[in-house]
Amino acid sequence: MSRAKKVVLAYSGGVDTSVCIPYLKQEWGVEEVITLAADLGQGDELEPIRKKALASGASVSLVVDGREEFVRDYAFPALMANALYENRYPLSTSLARPLIAKMLVEAAAEYGADAVAHGCTGKGNDQVRFDVSIAALNPQLKVLAPAREWGMSREETIAYGEKVGIPSPVKKSSPYSVDLNLLGRSVEAGNLEDPWQEPLEEVYALTAAIENTPDTPEYIEIEFVKGIPVAINNVQLSPVDLIVQLNQTVGRHGIGRIDMVENRLVGIKSREIYEVPALSVLIQAHRDLESLTLTGDVSQYKRNIEETYSKMVYNGLWYSPLKAALDAFVCQTQERVSGTVRIKLFKGNAIMVGRKSPNSLYSMDLATYGAEDQFDHKAAEGFIYVWGLPTRVWSTSVRG
Ligand code: ARG
Repeated sequence: MSRAKKVVLAYSGGVDTSVCIPYLKQEWGVEEVITLAADLGQGDELEPIRKKALASGASVSLVVDGREEFVRDYAFPALMANALYENRYPLSTSLARPLIAKMLVEAAAEYGADAVAHGCTGKGNDQVRFDVSIAALNPQLKVLAPAREWGMSREETIAYGEKVGIPSPVKKSSPYSVDLNLLGRSVEAGNLEDPWQEPLEEVYALTAAIENTPDTPEYIEIEFVKGIPVAINNVQLSPVDLIVQLNQTVGRHGIGRIDMVENRLVGIKSREIYEVPALSVLIQAHRDLESLTLTGDVSQYKRNIEETYSKMVYNGLWYSPLKAALDAFVCQTQERVSGTVRIKLFKGNAIMVGRKSPNSLYSMDLATYGAEDQFDHKAAEGFIYVWGLPTRVWSTSVRG
């Protein structure tokens, strides 16, 4: 029985997604498989990947450059929301999924496919992000996930591939599972599965070990316009260039390593290593600039929104009505978040050491302890009387 006629498959060039091509055709009766490899800055050579899909049985092999859209429409909105899952992970992998889903849906429309497919297994978050994003963008499309059903181990998958003539993996197989894009690297498996084990240095690729970082600090300035980073050290940069350059500058100082045990949506705890140099510094700097330009109540209220927002992105609800409403709130708050933050990079730390803005709400005249002080000290007395009145009334009732 055929599950679909024509399928657009999200393709990475790896073992699983390569085996998906013959599997879909031979086991699930799919007539035609079109592959789509999204370039989100993972640095892979895309031409060999494009050819490998054809050699594995794809009728059409698409490569789509999504880098600019990725940073502009996915990373920057999340940055404006200071999105950190469980207060730590800036969602570098999670943010890529709704964009890839959108590309699949668009390609399906263009090629008249009746289904899309991905190579996710049944244990992770990514399957949820793909399935729900695709449903949100085109609820009529079928979603096939062969690796969720085929029940093959990694060895069996490779053996199946060899049997049907899939070129064996180009890269030496690593004990780790790595996801890489412009925003960072996510690494799991291998000896990382024991949360007590310190990661070996071989796990890292974008950040230097503290032992190897420069012995003198480096200062940088990041300029934001309405919550969006636009320049480093007074040089205006495109979104992609800004991320690429910042990853290098900051990664050299060993900044942006995260070692955490997180809660997946499917209920499993997993130990994950992240390298997110640019994004982690951008969130710190952005938050710092907000402290200067947002009123206290907006800032405090926004923290709750940020937590909900982060959970929704992690849990695959990028294209959902609540997420759209939160985006509108966040966007509104960014109207005056323009200015520059000065950052000291040193030995694994990014320290915010200065901030300025044409929209600053900070008033030296009010804050100063010097003679210029404009704050009406006497007004405090009446304020405190009223502020403390309910407590005074309560205490009189309890204590007499
Ligand atoms: N835990 C992260 C997330 O759910 C990353 C998942 C992909 N990681 C990996 N090593 N393949 O967004």
